[in-house]
Amino acid sequence: MNDILIQNTVAFFEKSFGSSPQKTVLSPGRINIIGEHIDYNDGYVLPAAIDKVICFAFAKNNTTTSKIIAIDLNEEFEIDLTQEVKLSDVVWTNYIRGVIKQLQDNGFSFEGFNCVFSSNIPVGSGLSSSAALECGMIFGIKSLFDLKIEKKDISLLGQKAEHWVGINCGIMDQFSSVHGLENKVIQLDCNTLDFEYHNADFKDYSLILFDSNVKHSLFTSEYNTRRIECEEGLSIIKSHFPEVKTFRNANEEQVLSLKDKMTDKVFSRVHFVVKEINRVIKACKALDQGNIEQLGELLFETHYGLSQEYEVSCEELDMLVDTAKEDDAIIGSRLMGGGFGGCTINLVKKGHENEVKRKFSKLYLDTFGIELKFYDVKISNGTTLL
Ligand code: GLA
Repeated sequence: MNDILIQNTVAFFEKSFGSSPQKTVLSPGRINIIGEHIDYNDGYVLPAAIDKVICFAFAKNNTTTSKIIAIDLNEEFEIDLTQEVKLSDVVWTNYIRGVIKQLQDNGFSFEGFNCVFSSNIPVGSGLSSSAALECGMIFGIKSLFDLKIEKKDISLLGQKAEHWVGINCGIMDQFSSVHGLENKVIQLDCNTLDFEYHNADFKDYSLILFDSNVKHSLFTSEYNTRRIECEEGLSIIKSHFPEVKTFRNANEEQVLSLKDKMTDKVFSRVHFVVKEINRVIKACKALDQGNIEQLGELLFETHYGLSQEYEVSCEELDMLVDTAKEDDAIIGSRLMGGGFGGCTINLVKKGHENEVKRKFSKLYLDTFGIELKFYDVKISNGTTLL
């Protein structure tokens, strides 16, 4: 599936710069089975890299300026590596500027390079195309200039680049893009960054993403607000239960006992967080035991929490999940990623995929006048040097 993308990217590089690339990198998007909005709340998450990727071609250019071409956008920019890195009005370039800034601020030295890239990760669908862009860039620069950066640090530098652009994200997206492994989901402890792989064996069910085609217009501001609300909630819990250091060691009973000490909003956010942390632990067990029906139930529970308590859903995503709940061929469904649009992730009984797709397409188009897209998920390797 990615062969043509690779060929086109390399050919574009050759046409643009008159020589072959020295390094070619594939950097994947990610899904998340369960554990939403808890990477920055000291939870565990269960993501995986997928076979939708950004392909980058790189070569040194023996100057102090880098030239980067986004093939799909038909746009390019140059950056003088001897000057202070600043944000630009051209948003996509900021992820790359951010990466260059983070590398420089952390003492890594490198010179000018040429780069072209092209992607088949849909943008704004909750599949973390920005993390793929950040981590693929870091991986390429590291390979080109032989920088000593461990995988974990690639993720952390990518995350810092995203913060610099303006989203105070957790570590899940960058970590899973770098550490993905074919047919494995990653149980990541977002506090220690310890992780273990679990078999991505969903037995009689197929993982299918339904892309609502709704883009996240509220995403950045609401995302950052959720973080602040959770911090406020945690400090209230801590002040009443000094033994609690993070959400991980707070329990639902403690949160319920503090309901009248918090605003309704803050209470709903932290109530969701403590329950979601437990759901991920249950979900990992269910997956290991092959109890996919239980995993599916947990997905539905997560969605209702994200919609009602964390309030990061929207009408279109709620309709998709409510309809899935009534459909005998679907045993689990929820919005995936940051929310306010993007995809739902669904466990669909094998053999029923086409009928489900037909039914949802029609219903979605009739209700919202928007085309619903489907992605059959293949769990794949993380960032790779070809
Ligand atoms: C976005 C962020 C992640 C994570 C998810 C929600 O994808 O980048 O760090 O918080 O939202 O789980």
